[in-house]
Amino acid sequence: MNVRDIISKKQHGETLGAGEIDAIIQGFSTGRISDRDMTKFLKAVCDNGMDSTETAYMTQSMVMSGEPIDLSEVNPPKVDKHSTGGVGDKTTLVVGPLVAAAGLNMAKMSGRSLGHTGGTINKLEAIPGVTTRLSKKQLIEQVNTMGLAIASQSEDLVPADHKIYALRDKTGTVACTSLIAASVMSKKLAVGADTIVLDVKFGSGAFMKEFNDAKELAELCVKIGTAAERKVVALISNMDQPLGRAVGNVLEVKEAIETLKGRGPRDVTELSLELASELMIQTGTAINKEDARGSLFAEIDSGQALDKFGELIQSQGGDPEVINDLSLLPSAPIVDGFTAATAGYISAMDVEGIGRISKKVFGLMFLKKIGDEVQVGDVIADVHANTIDQAEAAIRELKDMVVIAKRAIVEPLICSVIR
Ligand code: URA
Repeated sequence: MNVRDIISKKQHGETLGAGEIDAIIQGFSTGRISDRDMTKFLKAVCDNGMDSTETAYMTQSMVMSGEPIDLSEVNPPKVDKHSTGGVGDKTTLVVGPLVAAAGLNMAKMSGRSLGHTGGTINKLEAIPGVTTRLSKKQLIEQVNTMGLAIASQSEDLVPADHKIYALRDKTGTVACTSLIAASVMSKKLAVGADTIVLDVKFGSGAFMKEFNDAKELAELCVKIGTAAERKVVALISNMDQPLGRAVGNVLEVKEAIETLKGRGPRDVTELSLELASELMIQTGTAINKEDARGSLFAEIDSGQALDKFGELIQSQGGDPEVINDLSLLPSAPIVDGFTAATAGYISAMDVEGIGRISKKVFGLMFLKKIGDEVQVGDVIADVHANTIDQAEAAIRELKDMVVIAKRAIVEPLICSVIR
């Protein structure tokens, strides 16, 4: 069938078969389908949707566009984690060491910052000397030696996702359930972990603004993963405010280290423990949540989890001493406060806007979060910047990003778990 006919079928809301979807994905991936035609296809999918079978076909076709990573030489249990993207989300830097210290093996291929969201790779590379460019051999050797490696995913892992994502970014077709599910799950299935935990975010800082859309996405991802014979659990978590206090690569690394020492913000700690617990339960390393959390707290108290992070840093070329001496990490010359203009309670934040601002400066450190009371002049966030002008511009922009009201409702962080 001609590609234009396939696109037209989707534009008319018809269901596509495996061969038709494969023709589109492989055609675009290899340059035989133009950006223009692919945009029509993506828009048709966003407008008319794809059912779970079509989305699974798309996912498999995307996996086949590249060179999946064969983890058969990695000792079980092999686990993986993925977040659909947020602001201040440094949980991979916490969950990785936690589960590796518990005896699980995580070969984590991570992405760079996308749009307003941060990327684990940018965070890890903010540690002087650390490299995330690992060959497949290095990745496997490191995981078999210490249980953890975090590498940047190369373009050839899932080239179709690479190309499609870039086009989606330009054509306003990012926030579409089927396209996100295929994008996320193709990258997970292309790496051979048998147990996967997903953090599907919703709220003002997430691609999915509404809980119900995030739930639909989570269910779809679990279904695709289960059909591919992987164990997949998805947490649905709230992104109506940045996760933790730190936003910005170096500040987030510091916060991850504090969390591994048991001194992190409550939300980062809670989400990391829940994600790690799910992996422990699914792999049979813990019998239930209580058991998992008991082991994880013990790892934090004994310093094992922190040492694991130090091992990771050393193995990937950095100075492991940063875990004991945060002053070895870069810092910003200017720190200026964004203060409250009125008294009340922090009731809402434009987290997408905050994510964008954070990219123009060294980082932001929130001293107040939703539900906190503020008086006029209280510092809501410290802006860490390279110049005074940069800090002042960020402070001006932040004024529109934080709402202070007479009362505030604090929503739960983890709203649902899909198995
Ligand atoms: N994260 C992904 O990996 N893909 C998407 O499409 C959105 C978030």
